[in-house]
Amino acid sequence: MAISRRLLLSLFLLRAFSSLPAQAAARGASHPSGTSGNYGSFLRNLLQDNPMIMEELVRGYMSNSELEIAVHAFGSRCPNISRIYSIGKSVNGVALWVIEISDKPGQKEAEPAFKCFVGTFDRKLYSHMWNIFNVNYVGNVHGDEPVGREVLIKLANWLCDNYLKDPLATLIVKNMHLHILPTMNPDGFALRRRGNANNVDLNRDFPDQFFPNNDEINYRQPETRAIMNWVKQEHFTASASLHGGALVANYPWDGSRDQSKQYYGCPDDKTFRYMASVYSQSHYNMSLSKEFKGGITNGAFWYPIYGGMQDWNYIHGGCFELTLEISDVKWPKAAELPVIWEHNRMSMLNLAASLVKTGVHGRIFAADTGHPIPGSLTIKGIGSEIRASRTYGDYHRMLAPGENYEVMASMEGFRTKATRIVVEEKAVSLDFVLDRDGANGLIRNDLGCPCDDDKLFHVQGARLELYLFVLFIIIALYVLFKRKTTSKFTIHRHSPKRPIAV
Ligand SMILES: *[C@@H]1O[C@H](CO)[C@@H](O)[C@H](O)[C@H]1NC(C)=O
Ligand SMILES: [Zn+2]
Repeated sequence: MAISRRLLLSLFLLRAFSSLPAQAAARGASHPSGTSGNYGSFLRNLLQDNPMIMEELVRGYMSNSELEIAVHAFGSRCPNISRIYSIGKSVNGVALWVIEISDKPGQKEAEPAFKCFVGTFDRKLYSHMWNIFNVNYVGNVHGDEPVGREVLIKLANWLCDNYLKDPLATLIVKNMHLHILPTMNPDGFALRRRGNANNVDLNRDFPDQFFPNNDEINYRQPETRAIMNWVKQEHFTASASLHGGALVANYPWDGSRDQSKQYYGCPDDKTFRYMASVYSQSHYNMSLSKEFKGGITNGAFWYPIYGGMQDWNYIHGGCFELTLEISDVKWPKAAELPVIWEHNRMSMLNLAASLVKTGVHGRIFAADTGHPIPGSLTIKGIGSEIRASRTYGDYHRMLAPGENYEVMASMEGFRTKATRIVVEEKAVSLDFVLDRDGANGLIRNDLGCPCDDDKLFHVQGARLELYLFVLFIIIALYVLFKRKTTSKFTIHRHSPKRPIAV
């Protein structure tokens, strides 16, 4: 019953939304054409559906099958730092290929062994664990915006060619798993249009926080579903989708509650502005924009959209996503692609690198067992929650540098712990060890070592080993001494067969 009511509501809203004149804009907005003058010159050009894409424009771009070949060619050229996999298929059955780039592709990093684990937190212990975090770049969300798919293949190849030569390439390959999906909408590309094969705008097809128009899973497009499953499975820390039609780094929220065009910041507004600025400031000329101050914009301030991928990622994936408009022209001549790539190269690299260089990273453990736990991390005053992974208890949270934060780790059945950190131009490494509700004082882990709650494990562990070693030496010396005296005694009293008294 609840479902049918929701269905009716969704259908109603779907109708309500579709009654607005649908126009194509960079991120996928619908808004009345009469107000287009408010949206700046970039948008005005975009309010028309893309004119017929001439065959001449298509020349020099990879077709879908050529892109598939390029992805696999990359996989065979750089097998040590890559893995190729598919997250599903488009409506017309084209595989959605992903290139994962990492020095340990497809692997979860090995868990460091520890024997006896205590302490409130340790800032340095597991800093080498950072490299299990996932980041993604998605291109060609809109079929008629093909620049992203070309640029992402160039990014993958650049990383492969410069790994262990260029410090930024090395940093990225060694410290994260970068998942690159060159095209989310191969059917739209083949049809030279914005929507997919069902003519649905994929950047309107995600569940929305304010309007339940997309909540009915049966209406969701296969491309959208593939992304949603992927995001839930891979536990991404940050991501960016690439679009065309403007030159700006767009950040959440994309929609406002009352549908009005206004600055509608999300809880992590400061961090998003920092990330968007990393992109625009590293770009050839994005930050010089006259339309967008600093080359960045809040989505709802530019023009609100509903059902976009960016807000959904942030809310449901715990993933900090930007929407990057990387070319004024949606479908430029192929000859311009190398220049567009050059203009965006440092931006793409610096955005990825910023995830390693800032924020707070660490793990959450249970004090009694020493095992990692999928606790959640919140920042006082911000509120949005990041979950640690189930396998390693690792969390990775972006934060704007130059600020003070109170970080809290919590988990059901455990006592919450909090501590203050200062995020400078360098990431903070912070592990939490949570006590079970009701536990106090001396605790014993499952390996049987007594642990004092106040001391850090490596101090305690080392001391324990020292005790055991000294004890072993004393026992060994005692046994040796005993045997010597005993044997002397035995020799002396050799002839008479008497029992040896001890
Ligand atoms: C950036 O450079 C491109 C290529 O030279 C040019 O077409 C565009 O107008 C410039 N944009 C800004 C904001 O300066
Ligand atoms: Zn777009």
